[in-house]
Amino acid sequence: THSHLIAPSVLAADFANLERDVKMINDSEADWFHIDIMDGVFVPNISFGFPVMSAIAKHAKKPLDVHLMIVDPDRYLQACKDNGAEVITVHYEACTHLHRTLAAIKELGCKAGVALNPHTPVSLLKDVIQDIDLVCLMSVNPGFGGQKFIERTYAKVKELRALAVENNTDVLIEIDGGVGLSNAGKLLAAGADVLVAGSFVFNAADPIQTVKDLKAVDPT
Ligand code: DX5
Ligand code: ZN
Repeated sequence: THSHLIAPSVLAADFANLERDVKMINDSEADWFHIDIMDGVFVPNISFGFPVMSAIAKHAKKPLDVHLMIVDPDRYLQACKDNGAEVITVHYEACTHLHRTLAAIKELGCKAGVALNPHTPVSLLKDVIQDIDLVCLMSVNPGFGGQKFIERTYAKVKELRALAVENNTDVLIEIDGGVGLSNAGKLLAAGADVLVAGSFVFNAADPIQTVKDLKAVDPT
């Protein structure tokens, strides 16, 4: 038996009170820090880069799960590692030589993740599934927090679990976008392992209790 992981997304933190918010996540039952890096090219928004990530890493007492929403991520894998990443997730849609990119991430000693946009089918991972530690299924179009969860995601979780089983391999299935108490149970029942939550945690009146509630959800 294994329990699911909760990864609050720092994108929804108060950047003027980053130390406070990072310590809040330290004090909560959260498992990882989800770090969203956007370049304004792959997605229509710019979040923050390595100076901010390293400031987060300085205070974080939990692994940094870095989600690169950038074109040609190979250029920045070493910087991710140097600034404290334990998981590095690149977008399928941003990698021409995904197999090579995954090998480079592992070479750095990090867990290798692949994120799929809502329009990208799980089946495209067939020939690379054994090289992946984590698949991040985007349940919104990446670029912004606070968007509406796309219902099709449940089916993709099941398809991905089946693909991993067929290929005798195990991957962590992470869900990113619009996650909260209304859909967490159903996502876990479908086979999700890691729930990213940005606005649901940081906009809550009591974020520490909200993380606790997400952590306590049973598959339904
Ligand atoms: C979206 C980011 C998400 C985002 C999630 O582009 O990848 O990680 O922070 O935010 P919520 O939970 O508010 O949808
Ligand atoms: Zn993300």
